[in-house]
Amino acid sequence: MIKTGNKIFILYTLHTTYAFRIMDTGCAEHLYYGRRVNITPDENGISALTEKHTFAPGNTVTYDKDSGAFSMEDVCLELSTTGKGDMREPAVMLISSDGSRTGDFVYKSFETGSDISINDSGMPESRLCDEQLVITYEDKNSGASLQVCYKVFEDEDVITRSVKIINDTDSDIIIDKLMSLQIDFDRPGFKISSFTGGWAREMNREDTVLNAGKFVVESRTGTSSNRANPFFMMSDADTNEDAGDVYGFNLIYSGNHYESISVSSFGKTRVLSGINPEGFSWTLHPSDTFVSPEAVMTFSHRGYNNMSHHMHAFVRKHIVRKEWQRRKRPILLNSWEAAYFDINESKLLKLASKAAEAGIELFVMDDGWFGERDNDAKSLGDWTENKKKLPGGLKGLTDKVKALGLKMGIWVEPEMVNTDSSLYKKHPEWCLAIPGKVHSEGRNQRMLDLSRPEVVNFIIEEMTRVFSSADISYVKWDMNRVVSDVYSSVLPPEKQGEVMHRYVLGLYKCMKTLTERFPEILFEGCASGGNRFDLGILSYFPQIWGSDNTDALSRAVIQSGYSYGYPLECVGAHVSGSPNHQTLRRTPLESRFAVASFGSLGYECNLCDMSKEEADAIKSQIELYKKWRNVFQDGIFYRGRSFADGNINEWTMVSRDRKAAVGMVLQDLVKPNTQYLKYNAKGLLSDVNYRFTNRELKYDIRDFGDLVNTVSPVHLKQDSIALDVIAKLVKMDGEEEDITVSGDVLMHCGVKLKQAFSGTGYNEQVRFFPDFSARMYFMNAI
Ligand code: GLA
Repeated sequence: MIKTGNKIFILYTLHTTYAFRIMDTGCAEHLYYGRRVNITPDENGISALTEKHTFAPGNTVTYDKDSGAFSMEDVCLELSTTGKGDMREPAVMLISSDGSRTGDFVYKSFETGSDISINDSGMPESRLCDEQLVITYEDKNSGASLQVCYKVFEDEDVITRSVKIINDTDSDIIIDKLMSLQIDFDRPGFKISSFTGGWAREMNREDTVLNAGKFVVESRTGTSSNRANPFFMMSDADTNEDAGDVYGFNLIYSGNHYESISVSSFGKTRVLSGINPEGFSWTLHPSDTFVSPEAVMTFSHRGYNNMSHHMHAFVRKHIVRKEWQRRKRPILLNSWEAAYFDINESKLLKLASKAAEAGIELFVMDDGWFGERDNDAKSLGDWTENKKKLPGGLKGLTDKVKALGLKMGIWVEPEMVNTDSSLYKKHPEWCLAIPGKVHSEGRNQRMLDLSRPEVVNFIIEEMTRVFSSADISYVKWDMNRVVSDVYSSVLPPEKQGEVMHRYVLGLYKCMKTLTERFPEILFEGCASGGNRFDLGILSYFPQIWGSDNTDALSRAVIQSGYSYGYPLECVGAHVSGSPNHQTLRRTPLESRFAVASFGSLGYECNLCDMSKEEADAIKSQIELYKKWRNVFQDGIFYRGRSFADGNINEWTMVSRDRKAAVGMVLQDLVKPNTQYLKYNAKGLLSDVNYRFTNRELKYDIRDFGDLVNTVSPVHLKQDSIALDVIAKLVKMDGEEEDITVSGDVLMHCGVKLKQAFSGTGYNEQVRFFPDFSARMYFMNAI
């Protein structure tokens, strides 16, 4: 709901309110964003919220000679610029035709509606908002118009904001900086939670309390990056998962982004988010327009979990394209860690038939199938099957995979080219490169110049040809390089600052066209894992490979990180081999499964080399996942304890009707002589009774080492053939949990679980729980 008064604007969602007004100078004052309060949109209604100025503070500049009491420096603004007294970091910097950088945006008009589109740039944007407000300002200096568009999503408690510049003058204007989001809070001291990392360790939450100075989250990789995700939170120092005030922010953008949180000398906190201004500059010719990415914000006074629920609901309904909304995601087997580049049809079919036996639904042939692609130095760009590896081509293999009862998926990396490829030989000028200069290297490949329409068209047509050459149901769209030597050989020198944004626009054109041409294909984004995990990609591709790191312990941290801003069915998560290929850590198969189940489940290991026991275990995991898939992929996710608090990571996923739930506890290292562990559910119905059970497992006696001799009638030497034989025949029973209690008890008291093994004895009611163990718990309303 949007209420307007005389130059007063109040935006409501179910549980939040956002308010601003236009001051006498024509500049906009931000009044409030937070918990829902009812504000009458008139002078009296906002009287408590406006700042009172009788004298300008010392050593400040007043806006003009008629507003002697008013300095832009000590007021919460809705739109900030530079040169008129605000000494803080500005949201907008334009360079007028006379070279001046001062901006002076004054209110012109407003419009409300539900389908006003300010986006004429081909950028992805949220869909189906309840209401919109567009405010138009005029820059008295450059003459440009600026529109701020707010979209309100009532049920999801989300408001978005994007900005458009229109050059209605008759000379060029340069955009030096344009932030999508600005919020000025009237206080310092927010705890900022950012999600940073690198390859194989994405999305680590870091908390920083900011009382003064500036905190920046940004990427320069050409992608939204694994270095710093555009999603971040701001909360009170004592906010936790289940209580306290928290703001969540994100950006629908896949390129270089910039978020800054700064505290002014007057103790006010300014939040900005948008395209990274570093290396960016955009020339607007007369009548040109420029649209910023859309920024997303939410607020909850009920802790991080509730804030995440707003973001999840928003992504599910307003970002993910309609064909894949609430649609079952298939369980897949990916060939990468099973075979890397060493693939051929017979090997792949062996893997696929094992996958079919296990109940897997989709077979994905990863890298290595095209050109001369035997390693990562060759053939990117040459999207023709290698007939030595695939004698029947893509179609031949696909038909055989389908005959096994599986759907077929493939890997592509369309934005790239190896210099050792036919494409590069034909079109060296199609890369981002500075002609005549030495190029920096990254995985032996170059980025194609997607700012060039002919390159974008080439990608679209090549991929259309590949995707229609066989019955392809799934595409993993990879992107394995960070940018260097940014330069487009077709743009003039003064437009080189536009290259990276034009690249992103070119990418969006590819993604939009191909997802429209192939709406039924499930696309999974990937960029060396999570180097481009953002709402721009999710607008087209409903899931993204979360990390090349498939280690269960690492993944618990990474997936928890994503879950703050993104629903977990958007995160591809695979069960891989042990020792893990990224960490060399050995973890139990059940732990790998438990963690991967909370994302979009797949397997990425050599099923052909598995023992019968492992194959049976995987089969039963898949059966279980299919039974619970709807809860996992469509449920409401809650974080409990995390490794940041100790040695337990605890998650719960509750069905939408809250009648069924799955919980998981994953342990880091065993603490000796601690038999006690409790699981606390979240999100259940208080007064409903639930049957609480665990995933009952049997254990290999070899996992008890030499201890078997304490019960064995004959001495068994470790690693002996005799022990191996007995281990096949005799299994150790694990504990059984089976109680019926109210949701209230499960949530607020928790379940004291059966005791863990602790060196003093073992029977079938002891919880076998060594390092890196996980247990899944199931709750069904009765
Ligand atoms: C990247 C991806 C991997 C795999 C390889 C193939 O590293 O993240 O999952 O697809 O490329 O080359």
